[in-house]
Amino acid sequence: MKRIAIFASGTGSNAQKILTYFKDSDKIKIALIVSNKPQAGVLNFAKEFGTPTLIIEREQFLKGDGYVPHLEAAKIDWIILAGFLWKIPVSLLNHWGKKIINIHPALLPNYGGKGMYGEAVHQAVINAKEKESGITIHYVDEQYDHGATIFQATCPVLPSDNAASLANRIHTLEHLHYPPIIEKEILSQAD
Ligand code: GAR
Repeated sequence: MKRIAIFASGTGSNAQKILTYFKDSDKIKIALIVSNKPQAGVLNFAKEFGTPTLIIEREQFLKGDGYVPHLEAAKIDWIILAGFLWKIPVSLLNHWGKKIINIHPALLPNYGGKGMYGEAVHQAVINAKEKESGITIHYVDEQYDHGATIFQATCPVLPSDNAASLANRIHTLEHLHYPPIIEKEILSQAD
């Protein structure tokens, strides 16, 4: 059984889909939900699924032990970012290496980087008059929204779109693709 920690800062709609997808899996278990926000919506989903949670604090995460001992104690094999706001510290990259995956709500390498989160991303895409946007699932490295791409899917940007309507279309794509892509990556690297 591979044990996953989901890191999320917000509503947690992707986390919810991942929890649902792996609910009855005998190969992959969502063992921990990690959040930097004690009020994050994702914590309601953790409660609903009976998944343990860990609330992290900035200094310890970014400049201290990175909560590596907590993640080790929970026997975490993979880290899945689902709308997580903070940069992943070197302590975690050293430990989990190529076993940290992120989803970004645009077609990287465009519209990524610091501050490019949620609706800010969609507004930038609309401001640039792009005709197409999409999602990028990628490995995490020491830069924001930067590691090797695993998967991309596209959708149109309509002339009538605002950030919220585009976000909805992107969320639909994310919910469809993220859980099975996670499964495929993890099982393809299973020992
Ligand atoms: C998702 O759209 C995800 O791609 C994005 O945050 C949203 C979280 O939604 N992540 C980033 O922007 C990372 N740079 P959710 O809380 O409903 O899953």
